[in-house]
Amino acid sequence: MSSDNYLNIIYLIASVLFVIGLKMLSGPETARRGNLLAAAGMLMAILGTIFLFHDKTHADFSSIETIKIALIAAGIGVGTGIGAFTARTVKMTKMPELVSLFNGMGGACAALISMMEFTHLHEGSVPPTARKFVVILAGLIIGSVSFAGSIIAFMKLNGTLGKSIRLPKYNLINNIVMLLIIGSAVYITAQSETNSIYMYCLLAGALAYGVLFVIPIGGADMPVVISLLNSFTGVAAAFGGFLYHNQVMLTGGILVGSAGTILTIAMCKAMNRPLTNVIFGAFGEGTVAAGAVGKSGGAVKDISVSDVATLMNYSKKVIIVPGYGLAVAQAQHVIHELEEVLEAHGVEVKYAIHPVAGRMPGHMNVLLAESNVDYNKLAEMEEVNPEFPTTDVVLVVGANDVVNPAAHNDPSSPIYGMPILDVENAAHIIINKRSMNAGYAGIDNELFYNPKTSMLFGDAKKVLTELVKELKEM
Ligand code: TAP
Repeated sequence: MSSDNYLNIIYLIASVLFVIGLKMLSGPETARRGNLLAAAGMLMAILGTIFLFHDKTHADFSSIETIKIALIAAGIGVGTGIGAFTARTVKMTKMPELVSLFNGMGGACAALISMMEFTHLHEGSVPPTARKFVVILAGLIIGSVSFAGSIIAFMKLNGTLGKSIRLPKYNLINNIVMLLIIGSAVYITAQSETNSIYMYCLLAGALAYGVLFVIPIGGADMPVVISLLNSFTGVAAAFGGFLYHNQVMLTGGILVGSAGTILTIAMCKAMNRPLTNVIFGAFGEGTVAAGAVGKSGGAVKDISVSDVATLMNYSKKVIIVPGYGLAVAQAQHVIHELEEVLEAHGVEVKYAIHPVAGRMPGHMNVLLAESNVDYNKLAEMEEVNPEFPTTDVVLVVGANDVVNPAAHNDPSSPIYGMPILDVENAAHIIINKRSMNAGYAGIDNELFYNPKTSMLFGDAKKVLTELVKELKEM
């Protein structure tokens, strides 16, 4: 059997490992193994490409080839080192930023591949086909948009950049830049332009578009843009697969692209935003900068830890609503302890998970899985909303936007129309946060002023630790 056939078999096995690994990522018990399996597939694909592809094209190992292999090995070594170190040392609260950064690196890789291949276009006696131009330029544009957009998302998530920066008529400008990029790509293809200057202009345009696309998105719309960038990276990598006729790269890219697209649709549904608005503008319209306050005002009622303990102890059913603040406080272990103590006291406990709670898709699921919370206790929004009217106590921990009734009641609110957890239907609402500060969307929350609401102020970890202690003594 030729090395070509061996390589195809390796690619097939690697692709199957990707698919099985992805499937296993859908459950916390199998996720770790799934990740390892997919990584093993990737390793097989890389080693196979280096050795068998090399073997096929050059029978003898010339010094140049050895240098190339050494460079590839050094790249893999440095990349693996940085990746492993970052993944091991990153704090859970910094995970969303890390995911954005990794996504951006994927986009950059796809763009770099396209740049390199563009410079090879004029080589050879046969002129490059229009198909080749399309594949190279699509990879370049989508990869660059994804890279620049992910870097802006990263800076927004870590607070380096303001949440929403708007140029006047930003929608018009963005759409013009997008049309210019598409028009230039069509021109380059039609004219078979191989001069690198065209490529650099297109690169600059795509990078600018990535920045312009993400920079105005503020408030609560970031989840959609993050998932969209995720799918862009996958699609850009898939174009790389087309370019090299490399099935494993194609499969990997398509898997990431389609998973990102499904996530984008889920996030659009979660935010009640049409996908066309996301792509063609009017997206993020109406969102306000962080720190802006709404119009609720009024008096809030606070409550002590021991009163909450008593209230919960005499309840039949408690629903916990985790949010970004739970991740900030690293209170996932103590909240699990609270759940166990309450259950030991005969109280039924569930967690209500909003699809955009936290700062990355699935943030709360990952966080609670880390403290071994039983996955069956996590209830999705649609499933749990009908249960609030029969719930004695809702404990909202570090969540804000995802329980803000302005989404139902205030058409002028930036989150108007977004489905929320209807916690106001419960008998008692306890909200734990440190102050009256706004959440990510930067708006006031009228739930805090609801007569059924009591505010339990303080850092989530500290307050929940005291609550567990009180309950244990009851
Ligand atoms: P937020 O609305 O951001 O509210 C989090 C709350 O946690 C804040 O109001 C904060 O109030 C409180 N908090 C912070 N540190 C705390 C601590 N140590 N202890 C107790 N409370 C603490 O969170 P959410 O309800 O989870 O909503 C998520 C928001 O982020 C949505 O607007 C969503 O669109 C956006 N977003 C989501 C994603 C994804 S993909 N999920 C990505 C980007 C943005 P204090 O400061 O008063 O404590």
